Amino acid sequence: MFWIPIDRSLDIPLIRQVFEQIRTRILNGDLQAGEKLPSTRELAVDLHVSRNVTLEAYDQLHAEGYIETLLGSGTYVAEGTFLEIEKKKLSLASLNLDDISEENKKEENHLIEINTDSIDFKSGVPALDLFPRKTWAKLAHRVCNEAPDSVFGYNTPEGRSELRHVLSRYLLRTRGVYCHPDQLLITSGATQALTLIAKLLLSTGDEVIIEDPITQEIQTIFSAPGSILCPIPVDDQGMQTVLLPVNKKPSFVFVTPSHQFPLGGSLPIQRRIQLIQYARAVNCFIVEDDYDSEFRYEGAPVSSLQGLDPERVIYIGTFSKILSPGLRVGYLVLPSSIIEQCRKLKRLADLHTSSLDQLILAHFIDQGYLEKHVSKMKKLYRKRRKHLINRLYSIFSDQVNILGDSTGLHLIAEFKNIFFSDQLLKKIQKYGVKVYPVENHTIRKGMHRNRIILGYGHLTNEEITEGIYRLHKALL
Ligand SMILES: Cc1ncc(COP(=O)(O)O)c(C=O)c1O
Repeated sequence: MFWIPIDRSLDIPLIRQVFEQIRTRILNGDLQAGEKLPSTRELAVDLHVSRNVTLEAYDQLHAEGYIETLLGSGTYVAEGTFLEIEKKKLSLASLNLDDISEENKKEENHLIEINTDSIDFKSGVPALDLFPRKTWAKLAHRVCNEAPDSVFGYNTPEGRSELRHVLSRYLLRTRGVYCHPDQLLITSGATQALTLIAKLLLSTGDEVIIEDPITQEIQTIFSAPGSILCPIPVDDQGMQTVLLPVNKKPSFVFVTPSHQFPLGGSLPIQRRIQLIQYARAVNCFIVEDDYDSEFRYEGAPVSSLQGLDPERVIYIGTFSKILSPGLRVGYLVLPSSIIEQCRKLKRLADLHTSSLDQLILAHFIDQGYLEKHVSKMKKLYRKRRKHLINRLYSIFSDQVNILGDSTGLHLIAEFKNIFFSDQLLKKIQKYGVKVYPVENHTIRKGMHRNRIILGYGHLTNEEITEGIYRLHKALL
């Protein structure tokens, strides 16, 4: 019999509990590569849970690369899934996790109007018209009336404890991020979090390992202190960790492991382990930017890298994609060794993020509105994504290949024999549509010239139909 302790009193879904416990046993070597696991049916009987629970937990383990299924034979632990525990003790190891228990398709045969109402496939913009205004207004009213006077004064740089407490529970529940509220620093979006980390860890001449391609902004933030970017090429599974340079002494490795930006891959467990082993060997931090992974359309969101080595991984999250970029709220989950220095830098940057907004957000999460909103938006984005994929295939057929569409608010369209030069992009714009070449985000140029990023979260199905129609006309 295969036994896993299940605690039904916890605020953590059973699927997550089963998944986490099997994952931990694989990572620590209790379950070794090649070892057979019970069938989902047997496990459900052993644990007195429904078969759905074990099926979904296995699906997730499979999606993250921990297990593999051999047809007609069973489920086995995959190779390369063992991660040694580092000897260094967590100084927040006393972290008490109990404490954290808590469409009308448009007629296509019409004349296009050149240059009017451009359809913008910008990436990373959520559906702004669906911001939960009423709920937010209700909570804002309540906070304004009931919050203590101190909220309207200067507050501490790390942010309101109310928000940090609910956020630590939310992160454990949804992202497998283990953190004490004291490890959280509330920032003005992920952008400020990245800036603080660059200020803290980089100086002139320092090297930083970074995915290539990655956003222009991130390249600018990390090179601003005079540091040197060491690009590691990305494929459909994220950073190619076999190419990590052994002869370097980087200050940190920057990754978007849940949903690589812009190519969209999700780093498999074997690469995650390689990355952590590399960071341990060269003794550097890993900076994990988890900007939009809640919107995963195949399976549950992939677990964080932070959960594998909380003292080595600096985790960055944001409410820009799941709620609103205008809110400007993000956060850092910090290893204990750099909490104090980061607080000082935040204080110097802007004292603290708006306390009122933090309190409203704390209520929004605590009362379950955030998870409801994410679930609702995920359904909408799933439909928009499907519509975009259908339009691309039906208009361009085998001239287009779609990549990186399993998560987030954008996908990559790769075209046969089309290179998105500045001249072609100007022509596309004249047809009233804006698309974004992957090459805009590359460090080593020339590898992705036939690829464009198409953001769809903020576009209706009608706009998507019209946008792809215009793109086709421009490319003819
Ligand atoms: C990969 C990545 N990280 C971070 C950010 C910044 O997000 P924020 O609005 O929280 O500053 C973005 C914005 O699109 C992004 O694409």
